[in-house]
Amino acid sequence: MIKKNIIKNNLISYKSRNLNGIIEPPADKSISHRALLFSALAVGKSKISNLLNSEDVLNMVKALRVLGVKITKKSNTYIVNGSGLTGFKTPNKHIDCGNSGTLARILMGAIGGSEIFVTLTGDSSLRKRPMNRVIKPLEKMGINFNSSNGLLPLIVHGTNEIMPIKYDSPISSAQVKTSILLAGLNAKGTSEIIEPHTSRDHSENLLKYFGANIKYKSKSSGKNKVLITGGNNLRSCNIDVPGDISSAAFTIVAATIIPGSNIIVKNVGINYFRKGMLEALNMMGAKIKIENKFINNFNEPIADISVQYSKLKGITLGSRYSSRLIDEYPILTMAAATASGKSIFKGLSELRHKESDRFNGIIDGLISCGIKVQSKKDDIIIYGNLDQVNGGVTVDCKYDHRVAMSFLILGGVSKKPIKVVGCKSIATSYPNFNSEVNNLGMNIKNDI
Ligand code: S3P
Repeated sequence: MIKKNIIKNNLISYKSRNLNGIIEPPADKSISHRALLFSALAVGKSKISNLLNSEDVLNMVKALRVLGVKITKKSNTYIVNGSGLTGFKTPNKHIDCGNSGTLARILMGAIGGSEIFVTLTGDSSLRKRPMNRVIKPLEKMGINFNSSNGLLPLIVHGTNEIMPIKYDSPISSAQVKTSILLAGLNAKGTSEIIEPHTSRDHSENLLKYFGANIKYKSKSSGKNKVLITGGNNLRSCNIDVPGDISSAAFTIVAATIIPGSNIIVKNVGINYFRKGMLEALNMMGAKIKIENKFINNFNEPIADISVQYSKLKGITLGSRYSSRLIDEYPILTMAAATASGKSIFKGLSELRHKESDRFNGIIDGLISCGIKVQSKKDDIIIYGNLDQVNGGVTVDCKYDHRVAMSFLILGGVSKKPIKVVGCKSIATSYPNFNSEVNNLGMNIKNDI
């Protein structure tokens, strides 16, 4: 059952007092999706604790149940009775992926090895997002699709004759990589995926933990290659999901830009391919410290992060950073708006294909708040100046959770409040966002 969404659609963020306290972000969305899906593909019972209880992830639970997977919940633990690599059943209804691109795209590769056909659809935002990036390589592996223009709704026809593939991906996308890896689990032979830069490697880490025949090195720069050989069953596992750095990013930036703040964010996954935002903020002059770091049983680094208010200065970030902080640009650009001086963020074309067109949403929203912003091809240039963050506007986040939370955080330092429309979307990743940031000191209210 999806928990009733308690977030109102229209929220107003007023000037905030200093933030103080300890907070734990919600569980990691990427790892939650993978923990559920890989457990469903394994043999035996897997246990997942601290699964993210948000709409996107609960839609994955529903999708797997529709495919015949038994999933139960005992207090805080999900128990997934794996169906094996080829054990999904043709469902008697379509699968609704809601707002989640990750769910739709990684499920396509996973379904592909079962001889079934399944219709996937999603909400109006997801139905606009490109699926050809996964359809194309999966078709080369023998999986068939019926779709118009590579958009949802579409039908996936699985096969028991998956062919291995060598795929040189034009983009660095963990969703594309994961979809091919999951199809590759059923291929007769070794598949090779190459991407321009390493995208988040949670799938590689978890697949190894589940016993897949996978080889990877996750290089910090340059092309990345992953090899997977089909035929090995996955074994059941116990997974404790760490906190989500992409959600922690909102409180980290809030404490950095709101004078007098001092907070600790606990239990945050700090995978190298996700923590570009921490590096960017430190380059801007933020006081962020990593404490109590350890590596968990599926090779993910986890730590507490302490954050103190600090005056920020603008930076230039090259495109090689973009896949390491792709989900954090909305909140990072808010920090840049309050910093002194110019910031240039390069190579942001992928922002146009997220839950909304974030590239233009950020620019339009910041300009309406009083900030000078320009774009040049795929780059965004922000002329940061706290004195010009006027606010006093309504930002339509286009039902995009990260855009909504970003402008609500900016409201904490703007001269006049910022109203955000479309905030129900926040429940897709951070259902308790406003109550939790208000507990630290922010002042976000329902618009009545
Ligand atoms: C995700 C990968 C990223 C990211 C998304 C989650 C994942 O998308 O933006 O929020 O869990 O694999 P791309 O694969 O399109 O880069």
